[in-house]
Amino acid sequence: MTKINANYQKLPGSYLFSMIAKKIAAYSAAHPDAQIIRLGIGDVTQPLGAPVIKALHEGVDEMANAATFHGYAPDLGYSFLREAIAGEYKERGSKIEADEIFVSDGAKSDSANIQELFDLDNRIAVSDPVYPVYVDSNVMAGRTGTYDAATGMWSDVTYMPCTEENGFIADLPKERADIIYLCFPNNPTGMTVTKEQLQRWVDYANEHDSVIIYDAAYEAYITEADKPHSIYECEGARTCAIEIRSFSKNAGFTGLRLGFTVIPKELKRGGCSLHDMWARRHGTKYNGAPYIVQKAGAACYTPEGKASIRSEVGYYMENARIIYTSLKDMGYTVYGGVNAPYIWLKTPDQMTSWDFFDRLLETIHVVGTPGAGFGPHGEGFFRLTAFGTRENTKKAMERFRKL
Ligand SMILES: Cc1ncc(COP(=O)(O)O)c(C=O)c1O
Repeated sequence: MTKINANYQKLPGSYLFSMIAKKIAAYSAAHPDAQIIRLGIGDVTQPLGAPVIKALHEGVDEMANAATFHGYAPDLGYSFLREAIAGEYKERGSKIEADEIFVSDGAKSDSANIQELFDLDNRIAVSDPVYPVYVDSNVMAGRTGTYDAATGMWSDVTYMPCTEENGFIADLPKERADIIYLCFPNNPTGMTVTKEQLQRWVDYANEHDSVIIYDAAYEAYITEADKPHSIYECEGARTCAIEIRSFSKNAGFTGLRLGFTVIPKELKRGGCSLHDMWARRHGTKYNGAPYIVQKAGAACYTPEGKASIRSEVGYYMENARIIYTSLKDMGYTVYGGVNAPYIWLKTPDQMTSWDFFDRLLETIHVVGTPGAGFGPHGEGFFRLTAFGTRENTKKAMERFRKL
């Protein structure tokens, strides 16, 4: 008899955004005239930039000609893209070689799959609240123990609370943590670390032989000069950190799909090179991101591409400013929005985050994301994203004023 992976049965409810989609669908079906504004899921709304579109067109034309046609891509990525990415790290002062970069179809799959490199006996630590994929992928693998529905916590996961008191930057774990997931700028809180704060994590990981999985999907949104764009800006990160990045939020590739993971060659655990293990994993389980998409990715590193990204990010950050200042003006307690496209808002009147979600949907037809969906310490908070259009962002704020 076929036995299923019973760990899937342990996952509580559906994935956060599927649950939100279901609620919106039910409300829309019952109220077909409601004009719903979605500031919930972190998907972009602006079209791809002109340099990316040009590269895509050229790539398509190359595929139409036998002399320039491309079949399977190299499974670790085309060197033209890996070199361009390495060049960008170099410009920011981090020494990352092109062959330490593994091109993929995005940061979600990499951040979910990376745990495969580690034994089930490792203890994971996550900042809380955080992007749900880190914990859920470890649940599927069977690394998280038992779930306590009352607390929303797994017995074998170390939760590192991010609260108003600690400025939403978790303290170092007090108990053993073998694999530490960090995400800066953070989804959902929109807050980010200073280099000194991040250095403490790197020192901790090197001292304890832990590995940091550093998700920098939102680094392009950093506006403050003292905030690190990469963990490799910290001394010693090459011996303890894996960095994951995405083209989704900076260049709008959410529908194209492209990302990459950096694993320095010095990073070894148990005498084994994590770089070589990931190369083996990629070679076996992944057949390479499409040529035309990688070509479009490389276009992001040209002067025109960089200017286009600055303009797209600037558009969303102006939305972030509008949301942040409007809500503050209305008396809400708000965080984030300065180095990230997320505004983290304290729910009024001590409402639960799902109650606040329902209230917004039903009264002003604005959709956000309940903080509880990102972990137990997300309760009492609510995430709004700056990825809407300017028009919808302004309209949503007008509706908030009527609440
Ligand atoms: C922290 C974080 N990492 C990764 C992703 C997914 O990125 P990608 O589109 O490259 O899969 C998201 C998407 O919302 C995210 O918030």
